[in-house]
Amino acid sequence: MTRKPDTLNADRLRDPGRRKLLGNAGAVGLAGFLGGGIWNLSATADAATLPANTRGLLGFSPIAASGEDTITLPPGYQADILISWGDPLFADAPAFDPQGNNSADDQLKQFGDNNDGMSYFPIDENRGVMAINNEYVNEKYLFAHGGSRALNLGEVRKSQAAHGVSVFEIRRTAAGKPWQVVKDARYNRRITALTEMRFSGPAAGHAQLQTAADPAGLKVLGTFGNCANGKTPWGTYLTCEENFDTYFGASDAGYKVTPEQALYSLNVKEPERNWADFDPRFDLSKNPNEFNRFGWIVEIDPLNPASVPVKRTALGRFKHENAAVTIAKNGHLVVYMGDDEVGEYIYKFVSAERVDESNPAKNGQLLDNGTLYVARFDSNTDGVPLKGTGQWLPLVWGQNGLTKENGFASQADICLFTRKAATQVGATKMDRPEWIAVNPHDGRAYCTLTNNNKRGNEAMPLNAANPRPKNLYGQIIRWDEGGDAAATTFGWDMYALCGNPIAHPEGVYRGSPNITAENTFNSPDGLGFDRDGRLWILTDGKYTNEGEYAGQGNNQMLVGCPTSGEIRRFMVGPKSCELTGITFTPDYRTLFVNVQHPGEEGDSHFPNNSPRPRSSVVMITRTDGGVVGAPS
Ligand code: FEO
Ligand code: CA
Ligand code: CA
Ligand code: CA
Repeated sequence: MTRKPDTLNADRLRDPGRRKLLGNAGAVGLAGFLGGGIWNLSATADAATLPANTRGLLGFSPIAASGEDTITLPPGYQADILISWGDPLFADAPAFDPQGNNSADDQLKQFGDNNDGMSYFPIDENRGVMAINNEYVNEKYLFAHGGSRALNLGEVRKSQAAHGVSVFEIRRTAAGKPWQVVKDARYNRRITALTEMRFSGPAAGHAQLQTAADPAGLKVLGTFGNCANGKTPWGTYLTCEENFDTYFGASDAGYKVTPEQALYSLNVKEPERNWADFDPRFDLSKNPNEFNRFGWIVEIDPLNPASVPVKRTALGRFKHENAAVTIAKNGHLVVYMGDDEVGEYIYKFVSAERVDESNPAKNGQLLDNGTLYVARFDSNTDGVPLKGTGQWLPLVWGQNGLTKENGFASQADICLFTRKAATQVGATKMDRPEWIAVNPHDGRAYCTLTNNNKRGNEAMPLNAANPRPKNLYGQIIRWDEGGDAAATTFGWDMYALCGNPIAHPEGVYRGSPNITAENTFNSPDGLGFDRDGRLWILTDGKYTNEGEYAGQGNNQMLVGCPTSGEIRRFMVGPKSCELTGITFTPDYRTLFVNVQHPGEEGDSHFPNNSPRPRSSVVMITRTDGGVVGAPS
């Protein structure tokens, strides 16, 4: 059971080469490297000098930062709303009440709150199914009382109904026409915090998943904290449970949080929501194992509304951000995953069997059998910062100290307490891993490390991949497995060290050379590649537009060229929202993006001057009908 949280980093700091690299003051030694070398930015100053394969990849005029309560796009683009929180999903569903008076039953038939990750599943050119996470709720807007008091039972049920996933058909009358929600489609479905699902994989049936309501440990009600997502090659949707700890309380004032619970930052004294007062499942004094039934990746078949969602335990239990799915060259499925909390880890799962396109029913089982790995990022032995090599460390029972002596009785224990296992094997503590995306052209994976104000504290020393103390701006790291996603080693470098040249004209907080006064942003979060290889970067950061964040404006979406490193601002969201979730139609002429929690600071009437701001799915198209982001 011994945990060795910082031994690895302590060892590294004793390494003389590493000390030279980081210097006594940590990141100071980096500053000299930021002027050149790994970014090919001399090329971006003049498009004519770009390598031929990237020339003109970014085909729009970058826009300025903005603090306006609206969506801002480059000239030649338009934004339309597909759906907003509370809009009816069924022909018999009640209309949205702008005063917050819809009931729990109403909400069960309406689009959930705070849409985050999403995927589009085309049926034909003009029809398809959207699966969209509804991550959490804004009590301030969900209830007529504005969240001014603790919730009663009916309000807890409404909150639970606004969480989960919304699945619905969209259609257009013809190519180039706007997409619309089809309210009477057979696919339409709400999956909420109350929907029955099942466990599969190594931890299914484990004693620590068993409860009075489910003595076999095989069935569970609901999903929540559904942050980002993934899409499998066999056409299913993966929804990722992130901040599940915030839903649990304890009626017994003397309740003691266990070390395993504490690893997931459980705080029963001050839960963010009082579900436990009315739903005993969330009262850990009564149902301590219920906590272990969340923090998973859930597979949903969006084209089969009768299907039971499956929590795939082989993918590990942590605060899952997204699931970036690819197929390795040997045909095995690979899923890259980040765990979004300060000092947590990056994982990948490699299936034991190959993907079989001709047998979609069997493919779901690929997510039950395979090897889960966690990443260790090592510094460059030549002393060049911001690049190095790495290892995928297997989280396999019996190996690397994952044994009974250290508290792991089986592979199921590793799946249940994945953070503990990753620490045991010496993984690298990262600056809050958010989304991962794989470049379809070269297989390199990119991961947003959103920020980490605790980096550089004694408990969390700097390391090569997380090189700045009090990291307010974040970075985008990428790794290259030599074209083989099943490899166990990789090389890595930094696509962008985010920063603010306005607040910090020099030094490490200025950022890498591809960050400029024109494109400056903080806290990269959402990430996705389009078919051509444009990297779409969405932010969930500070929007004060002052001090450290001067000139950055509201949260935004930018587009990066993976080869040159050039980054241009494409979209700015309304006030105090984040932009998150991205999916495209197969022709890449409609981009769907989510405006989440607009007006969380009470300062927005998005969309359309709404009395209550509403999280919404936005459709972005070009007025000339072209591919979004591409040159004309
Ligand atoms: Fe739900 Fe880490 O963002
Ligand atoms: Ca979010
Ligand atoms: Ca996020
Ligand atoms: Ca975030």
